[in-house]
Amino acid sequence: MATTTLPAKKKGVASSSIGLKFLMAGTGVIFILYVLLHMYGNLKALAGQEAFDEYAHHLRTFGEPMLPYGGLLWTVRIVLILAIIGHVYAGMKLWSRAGSARQQKYAVKKNTGSSLASRTMRWGGLALLAFVIFHLVQFTVVKPNFNSEASAEAVKESPYVMISAAFDLWWVLLIYVIAMVALGMHLYHGVWSASQTMGLTSTTVSRQRAKALGAIVGVVIVVGFLIPPFAIFFNLLD
Ligand code: HEM
Repeated sequence: MATTTLPAKKKGVASSSIGLKFLMAGTGVIFILYVLLHMYGNLKALAGQEAFDEYAHHLRTFGEPMLPYGGLLWTVRIVLILAIIGHVYAGMKLWSRAGSARQQKYAVKKNTGSSLASRTMRWGGLALLAFVIFHLVQFTVVKPNFNSEASAEAVKESPYVMISAAFDLWWVLLIYVIAMVALGMHLYHGVWSASQTMGLTSTTVSRQRAKALGAIVGVVIVVGFLIPPFAIFFNLLD
């Protein structure tokens, strides 16, 4: 086998790169499931304040008394935190390996990982990480009120008032439009990469299926997430 001519260090690198790719794919699937559920929950805003606030409350009381208050929410949070650590760690490692592979004299071009898609995944992924931090500060941790027409207390008390006040502002809407388009692109390519890692792209038909699935997931996420913000901005919910 050709690998016998490689230095010992290289063999380890090659095999664990596969492990890192599986870590990316597995944690990526966890995120896809989470964002689909989150998007579905957000669409409850279309049913009005009572339905949306009731849903947010239900997320915290789910499973009581077997689970403590917020038990489900904290379980999901822990899974997401572990998944994000794994996803970012594997992404950074693969990124730095692709970078050092490029400096090798005999590196094969297609293995350098410098395609437009992979550059978009790396920088887009970092931008999405920045968005998620902003999003958590905005809607979960600090809940600041940027809208002078809304009461800061009401924003903190009602998730529906909080999102209504936020998406009344054009610049908040713009941030979310950009972030959701970036997320859609990330998922489109991510579904493709994960399918490749799992060996699901060996035939023309399976390649087409993986691309179609990526496109469907991407479009559903972008459209589904952006319906409530646009409905709020254009006063369609009142
Ligand atoms: C238009 C798009 C989005 C809207 C309107 C939205 C809205 C919200 C709201 C209102 C909350 C607080 C829920 C509550 O405390 O009951 C929340 C929490 C959260 N959102 Fe989003 N979200 C959007 C997109 C996203 C995306 C794309 C992601 C992930 C990539 C995301 C990840 C989270 C996370 C992790 C939480 C924290 C949940 C928790 O309390 O543990 N959101 N979002």
